[in-house]
Amino acid sequence: MISRIGFAPSITKSLLLSPLTTLRVGGPADVCVPRTADELRLALEWCAETATPWRVLGRGSNLLVSDDGVPGIVIHTAALRTLEFGDDGQVTAGAGVRTSVLLGRTRDRGLGGLECLVGYPATVGGVARMNAGGKWGCASAVIEKVRVVGAGGVLREMTAEQCRFGYRTSALADCVVAEVVFRLPKVDVADYRRRVDEIHREKAATQPLADHSAGCVFKNPAKDLGAGRLVDEAGLKGLRVGGAQVSTVHGNFIVNKGGASATDVHELIDRVREGVERRTGVRLQLEVEVWGETPVPARS
Ligand code: EPU
Repeated sequence: MISRIGFAPSITKSLLLSPLTTLRVGGPADVCVPRTADELRLALEWCAETATPWRVLGRGSNLLVSDDGVPGIVIHTAALRTLEFGDDGQVTAGAGVRTSVLLGRTRDRGLGGLECLVGYPATVGGVARMNAGGKWGCASAVIEKVRVVGAGGVLREMTAEQCRFGYRTSALADCVVAEVVFRLPKVDVADYRRRVDEIHREKAATQPLADHSAGCVFKNPAKDLGAGRLVDEAGLKGLRVGGAQVSTVHGNFIVNKGGASATDVHELIDRVREGVERRTGVRLQLEVEVWGETPVPARS
């Protein structure tokens, strides 16, 4: 369909989303892959014109997609991969640049400050949107500004302050990140490489990096109260529903042991929440983003 603006984005119909997510779960959707910020702008303009609902997919690393898929259009940022180096540590990266690529390319130029992203299988857009991070800091510390396309297709620039970065949140939820401008400190490459390797080793020892997962499932209820520890202390590590299992390595990860469905994962999430709440009175809040219908839990 061509809208009044005379542009129709190229859309792949009914594409299975599971291979596009790190958890490898999820049904079909109509997917559009803009190649430039301008195509992204036009796609959102088209969605507004045709009243088509849209959502954004980066690396799919923080996502639980329903088995029935989702309606509307999924805008996949994978092709927005420009990477430009300015003066004084300024780096502008397209939303679809992978964190591992960003880290490697900036490190090779003697720029640091991205330790907090080691081991995150994410894209730049998702990192900004979620203000990704952990105990080694969070992304907002090195983000100067973000260029976004708002609903309706208006491209605008937001300062870090306007992004209102918080713990795994930002004001970037109702727009699409086109590119992020980082300001990175100069570092000694050998020292930085050692530190990055050390963090990677520590993460690999404490998180199931080799398994298919959506990263941490729950938010930490407080700074000194980790969801992973609560799940662990409730004796829920290893609990399994179908192909989904609470990681035996870290309690805040659910891993796909093969053939897991979104329904399995939702049921496991419910059981973990109930187990932790029964033991501690704390109701865990989801950190992963849920797309589509949530199945009604089966009760025996
Ligand atoms: N712990 C346990 N049992 C477990 C897991 C953890 O006792 O099964 C304990 C650890 O021993 C440690 C404490 O809980 O004393 C905190 O654990 P960890 O250092 O693994 O950090 P976390 O708070 O569980 C956060 C982020 C991670 C990030 C790590 C490392 C959240 C929800 N999680 O985890 O982010 O990788 O710090 O920086 O904020 C993600 O966002 O997807 C994610 C995994």
